Amino acid sequence: MRNLTEKTVFVSGSTKGIGNAIAARCVQEGARVIVHSRSQSGAVEAQNQIGAAGAVWGDLSDAGGTNQVLDQLSGYSAVDVLINNAGVFSVEDFFQLTDDVWLDYFQTNVMSMVRLCRALMPAMLERDSGVIINVASEAAFKPLPQMVHYSMTKAAMLSISRGIAELTKGSNVCVNTLMPGPTWTDGVEKYFEGLAKQEGRPLEEVLGSYFREHEPTSLIQRFVKVDEVADAAIFLAQNTAVNGSSLRVEGGIIRSI
Ligand SMILES: NC(=O)c1ccc[n+]([C@@H]2O[C@H](COP(=O)([O-])OP(=O)(O)OC[C@H]3O[C@@H](n4cnc5c(N)ncnc54)[C@H](OP(=O)(O)O)[C@@H]3O)[C@@H](O)[C@H]2O)c1
Repeated sequence: MRNLTEKTVFVSGSTKGIGNAIAARCVQEGARVIVHSRSQSGAVEAQNQIGAAGAVWGDLSDAGGTNQVLDQLSGYSAVDVLINNAGVFSVEDFFQLTDDVWLDYFQTNVMSMVRLCRALMPAMLERDSGVIINVASEAAFKPLPQMVHYSMTKAAMLSISRGIAELTKGSNVCVNTLMPGPTWTDGVEKYFEGLAKQEGRPLEEVLGSYFREHEPTSLIQRFVKVDEVADAAIFLAQNTAVNGSSLRVEGGIIRSI
């Protein structure tokens, strides 16, 4: 088992939601956590909120913003655990979605992860030690009609994660994917506002019947809690034999063995 004490952990998109919960749990495990936001104020606020060791900021949807984040990260000790969590999601009508939106989603959800792995993974391989956790979604396995564009990015993350896990062969570096199901966060609240609008129904009604109508295969019939996703991230960060894998934290929505 890997001990996270004094390890440098970078969690992208850690001002709120899943990323914030993962970052907070890593602080509790004794890690030197570096939090991240698009804005300096957001990053510093999150740093103070969870007692993180550092804060960096920059928009990960393009190479310039990612380089800004990498420049700031170079001021800290080498990243031992990279958690690619930053991501966007929204309800969209497939028939109305423009090429630009498709490409923006690919940039934000996929290229952000590619660029950070490309920059930080070689040093892990050189040190023969490191962990990468890519936060995808159960939508990677079960594309959602109201977010086909998003589901595509999460399937791409799975493929890339497995591909780069192959590059760790014989080393002590692990690359895995975490696949949360519907988890109650700020982002998901906005998502449900979009779904209610698309269905022309009040938000409360959509929320009240969501699992029955949209996720009948969910075994827990409720939202996953951010702390439950964080527990799974800690497991992946500490385990030394789970590699090239994808861990579902989706309450059993994906009905397969
Ligand atoms: N919630 C769910 O039900 C669910 C389910 C499956 C998978 N996921 C995945 O889990 C991850 C986190 O989801 P969440 O619900 O916790 O999201 P959230 O509450 O909307 O938080 C998103 C985080 O990502 C950051 N972010 C957004 N766009 C960014 C960009 N262009 N560059 C850099 N950072 C950016 C935000 O930072 P600032 O706003 O501070 O800049 C924020 O910290 C996402 O990858 C999502 O796809 C979520």
